[in-house]
Amino acid sequence: MATIESIALDGGECAGKYSINDMKAKGWSVDDIKITQTPKGMSFIYILKSPDHAKIAPMVAGGAVAGGSISQEQMEANIMAKLEAKKVAEEKAKVEQEIKEAKIDAQGIYTNQCQNCHGAKGEVRKGNSKLKDLTIEQMEEALKDYKLGVGEKASSVYGPSHINFLNDKTIKGIKAYLDSIQ
Ligand code: HEC
Repeated sequence: MATIESIALDGGECAGKYSINDMKAKGWSVDDIKITQTPKGMSFIYILKSPDHAKIAPMVAGGAVAGGSISQEQMEANIMAKLEAKKVAEEKAKVEQEIKEAKIDAQGIYTNQCQNCHGAKGEVRKGNSKLKDLTIEQMEEALKDYKLGVGEKASSVYGPSHINFLNDKTIKGIKAYLDSIQ
């Protein structure tokens, strides 16, 4: 397989002209390599990232693509869809991780700064609602009202109790904490 790095690849930015070595020289880096055994031999799919990582492009080497049952375009579309799904999953994992981390703080914030008024489980009715029933969006909306002093929150003497301890991250964490103890 010594030649695979230097043969011109099909697809994406390689356009049948450039090899992996050429692309590396242009600043692209290899993000992933998929190797599949097909009746026509080995097929290599390189997933490359542009120098600024803003772009990803699959490039195909090997005999499996041309004349195969699936067109190269289709194969690239499939790969892009998979990469997109991977990105979405990673993004979701990141948010979950953030919430998880925030939840550790959030338990402290909640028990020290909120539960006196809102109840250990957010079950005490304050204003029109119980904290445990609010969505993240509703809490964010309420925080905005406290901060900007609009709506019925404008006249609340409880503004500082909220503004001082709440931001987008703590709200997500507090929501996760409350959900976990219902
Ligand atoms: C001193 C009592 C007190 C403390 C402490 C307090 N709150 Fe409140 N909170 C209230 C009251 C009372 C209301 C009802 C609206 C009002 O008068 O401002 C309210 C309203 C809210 C609302 C809006 C509810 C709605 O229906 O729009 C949210 C969200 C909220 N609190 C979250 C929190 C969180 C999170 C904490 C802890 C960081 C906290 N509060 C600390 C008394 C308190």
